[in-house]
Amino acid sequence: MKVLSVGGGAREHSVVEALKRSNAEIFSVMKNKNPGIASASVEFVLMDECLVEQVADWAVSKGVDIAVIGPEGPLGEGLVDVLESRGIPCVGPSRAASQIEISKEYARDLMKRNNIPGYIEHRVFDNIDDVMPFLEEFGKDVVVKPIGLTGGKGVKIMGEHLHSLDDVVEYCREVLENKIGGEARVLIEEKCVGEEFTLQAFCDGKTLSPMPAVQDHKRAYEGDEGPNTGGMGSYSESGGLLPFLSRAEYDEAVGIMQRTIDSMREEGTPYKGILYGQFMLTADGMKLIEYNARFGDPESMNVLPILQDDFLAICQDIVNGSLSAAVRFDNKATVVKYVVPIGYGIESRSGEKVHLDESSIKNTGAELYYASVNEEGGQIYTTTSRSLGIVGIASTITDAEFISEEGLKFVGGNVFMRHDIGKPDSIRKKVERMENIRGSRSA
Ligand code: AMP
Ligand code: GLY
Repeated sequence: MKVLSVGGGAREHSVVEALKRSNAEIFSVMKNKNPGIASASVEFVLMDECLVEQVADWAVSKGVDIAVIGPEGPLGEGLVDVLESRGIPCVGPSRAASQIEISKEYARDLMKRNNIPGYIEHRVFDNIDDVMPFLEEFGKDVVVKPIGLTGGKGVKIMGEHLHSLDDVVEYCREVLENKIGGEARVLIEEKCVGEEFTLQAFCDGKTLSPMPAVQDHKRAYEGDEGPNTGGMGSYSESGGLLPFLSRAEYDEAVGIMQRTIDSMREEGTPYKGILYGQFMLTADGMKLIEYNARFGDPESMNVLPILQDDFLAICQDIVNGSLSAAVRFDNKATVVKYVVPIGYGIESRSGEKVHLDESSIKNTGAELYYASVNEEGGQIYTTTSRSLGIVGIASTITDAEFISEEGLKFVGGNVFMRHDIGKPDSIRKKVERMENIRGSRSA
């Protein structure tokens, strides 16, 4: 079967590897030349993935049978609507359903309207004069979010980036005046405190089939310090839970996502594709921080390599509306560590050589996924985004972490990575933090 893959990051490389295991013939569209995707493809084209008509022309000319869309940009531009109007079914939501990620206002309003648990109190402003009176009355710490996409960099949090109500108003003014995220509207919501985790699920519009829970690390530096990033690495535990996450809590998060897709279907915007829920366990219970309309990056690298069932068959079930509620995964722990350019999170150095010894990495047992790099003359160069994901898979997080570190020994250049991700000490701190939060809950 011919499959169109859209996107050139490590997320898409892991998708392509999973499709290859199903014997798919891959045709890929990406803006950078990801060597992993390129070598796995029957054919690839370098193209801006958001030019949806051009992407569709190319896909039609190759006679692809089904498409899997990686990044949110083309979803927001309506790539799925265009491909489907031209007879290519897609694993990915329509433009209308992708609003669950593209518009933070849509996601919060949907939850409020339908009384979905996990909702965080929010208000949207288009007039700066209304902000200070609201903050004074609200009386709690807040988070400020542009409505549209900002690549994870638009969210500012009181106590971290904003230190007074005046700071909050000033940032809201900046968002409104500069239309950060594409609109002169800004969302303010209650600040939550707790431990975050990701839950990804396959969805066919009606059935939701959850994957193992994952914890990403957004901060650039070890000890969760420094600027927010797209994610520096992530881990998952065998059995699908996390060291700080109980079965009941996992099920609660699944329930929130199921209620969300039920509401979307009832409102005439059925959701199919991959739904990504970012949750936070707080003293006030489970909160939904945001939805994404796609696999997470790095989180796809935690789940796809341990997928037991045939990925292409799942993709077909998603587009045919015949998804099973119980997709199976190997009982394994995973640790992903991202190698990123020096300066990443502030100002990445692009065009730098990345040295790596692919066969030695494979010999350690680690898996390698290329991210936003370019390949020229057999040499790998950084872009401004993340470069490589190195994945360890084993029975325990500790063993998986060890394998990812063995793989990292064969990577060099003007790059850095977080060695603390998945280390026992780092996990213990998260468990202790969660125990304190639970303690304050029952107090
Ligand atoms: P987002 O782009 O919505 O994922 O936000 C980026 C990060 O900001 C999240 O992963 C959280 O760590 C943090 N964040 C977002 N919303 C909140 C909130 N309401 N309370 C506390 N932290 C938040
Ligand atoms: N890891 C965060 C994201 O994919 O948005």
